[in-house]
Amino acid sequence: MCGIVGCIGIDYPVEYLIEGLKELEYRGYDSAGIAVMDEEDLKVIKSVGKLKNLEEKIKKIKFKNPYMGIGHTRWATHGKPTELNAHPHKGQFGALVHNGIIENYQEIKKKLTKEGIEFISQTDTEVILRLFEYYYDGDALKAFKRTLDEIEGAYAILLITKSDPDKIFFAKNGSPLIIAKNDGKFYFASSDAPLIGYANSAHYLEDGEWGFVENKLHLFKEKEIIPSFKPLPTNKESAKKDGFRFYMEKEIYEQFDVLRENTLGRNTKEGIKFDELNKSFFEGIDNIIISACGTSYHAGLVGKYLIERNAKIRVNVEVASELRYRKPLLNKDTLFIVISQSGETADTLETLKMAKRKGLKTLALCNVDNSSIVREADKTILLRAGIEKGVASTKAFATQVMTLWMLANYLGGINEYDAINEAIEAVKVDVSKHEKIKRLSKRYLHGHGFFFIGRDIFYPLALEGALKLKEISYIHAEGYPAGEMKHGPIALADPGLFVVALLSKNILYEKTKSNIEELVARDATTLTISSEYIEMTDDFIKISGTNHPLVEFFEMMVITQLLALEVAIRMGNDVDMPRNLAKSVTVE
Ligand code: F6R
Repeated sequence: MCGIVGCIGIDYPVEYLIEGLKELEYRGYDSAGIAVMDEEDLKVIKSVGKLKNLEEKIKKIKFKNPYMGIGHTRWATHGKPTELNAHPHKGQFGALVHNGIIENYQEIKKKLTKEGIEFISQTDTEVILRLFEYYYDGDALKAFKRTLDEIEGAYAILLITKSDPDKIFFAKNGSPLIIAKNDGKFYFASSDAPLIGYANSAHYLEDGEWGFVENKLHLFKEKEIIPSFKPLPTNKESAKKDGFRFYMEKEIYEQFDVLRENTLGRNTKEGIKFDELNKSFFEGIDNIIISACGTSYHAGLVGKYLIERNAKIRVNVEVASELRYRKPLLNKDTLFIVISQSGETADTLETLKMAKRKGLKTLALCNVDNSSIVREADKTILLRAGIEKGVASTKAFATQVMTLWMLANYLGGINEYDAINEAIEAVKVDVSKHEKIKRLSKRYLHGHGFFFIGRDIFYPLALEGALKLKEISYIHAEGYPAGEMKHGPIALADPGLFVVALLSKNILYEKTKSNIEELVARDATTLTISSEYIEMTDDFIKISGTNHPLVEFFEMMVITQLLALEVAIRMGNDVDMPRNLAKSVTVE
């Protein structure tokens, strides 16, 4: 995800900006930039790719007594990873960096365009700067406040402007921003890591706080307030994980923000919109093949249920490594969809090339812009999950399923605006539930294996829950359709068989409950996840009583992820780098 740095009152700001951005590299980025104010001008330097490209460009710039600056690393979500889309955005007299999402950016853009204001990037961020400059009439603080009053959504913002050249303006709502200080020098960053070593204490901005620094910090909420500076942590590694034990844990907690980003501008009150697609792309399409591997394949299986149900289009889901060698019959009335977090998975890529050779239309659901799969596919919907560091995929899976849900509704002309927003809420981690899972996990370390069971969309979730657990705990786990247990696997049932049952209130409740009863009767140890308490289960984790199965799906997804995490931690494993696995599988 994107990163922000800034500083004022120090002798050579460029050094902090670059070193700070380096500390944010671990968050992933595809372009970077800085804006520096010196005695002559406001200088904005940006580049695509790694920070060393930016450093090379900076070496060629002569700064004359620079005294403040802002910087940013960007992971493309709205618009390609180009220099124009990179931050800082430069206006007529200011420069601005932003993390988060401006939800009403299209309305603001429309309004300013009517006023004759030109936009040069494809980002939501540019509207903040243009709006600020539109409102500026000699009082930068007033214009900044007016801008904040008008924008909606999540943001962490730093703004510098030649019209008031001794101040850094800042604001925070929903995205993290920290102001740190040391001897009259002020530093900004979107997380602790860049600040460690430069400053000794920090004020962690609260939502709704804004203000400026000019020699001292001026902080406002409704009125001017006093900042509360606390000592900064000293451990950079832990700071990079935002204090979580593992990146995977951080990524599980991040899913709420990531899904908001994923659905921004797509899930609208008027229905689903994809800027990347047009209806004519789907003309002549009679059926869909989805090709993917691992977790992405599981998302594809959910997609089959949703697209067939909501759009009434037949869907086959294929494991890419099988599909590529089985000489499949591919017709031009088939839309070929590939799903991949990395965009580099060799098997998935090969099936995509195969489909293209046969003249099929191709669509990629992918998290990495400019990856091999994105370059190869006719069209791409970016997942907007940000970099995923944990080898076991969590937040990318969440965005894959959400994107498929939106695609199903887009194709079927169905509007589930509220249900989608409810599902996003459902992935917020309930800390007390996490604590309960942590406690429960100690009972699930022995035994001779796990079955995750579910029906309908909860069957692919069972497959994914089992995959997560086996990847990081090294305990054998299988996902099974609940109704299929009696056709063989139930022979394994005894107290040493652990069954995680995904019991939906909304889909085949009674039937799934009977399947759990059959396992209980054979003495299997059961952990049921449901909104409906059932007496017979050994352990029970309650979810909220929603009426939409996909809201249940997302809430259960988080629980299965946390369960895998806690079991693996108790086993003493390196959760982020499980043995024998790689994040990007570029070989067969
Ligand atoms: C599991 C996992 C893998 C990947 C698979 C496909 O946690 O991460 O199963 O899902 O290797 O990778 P992508 O999605 O990058 O094509």
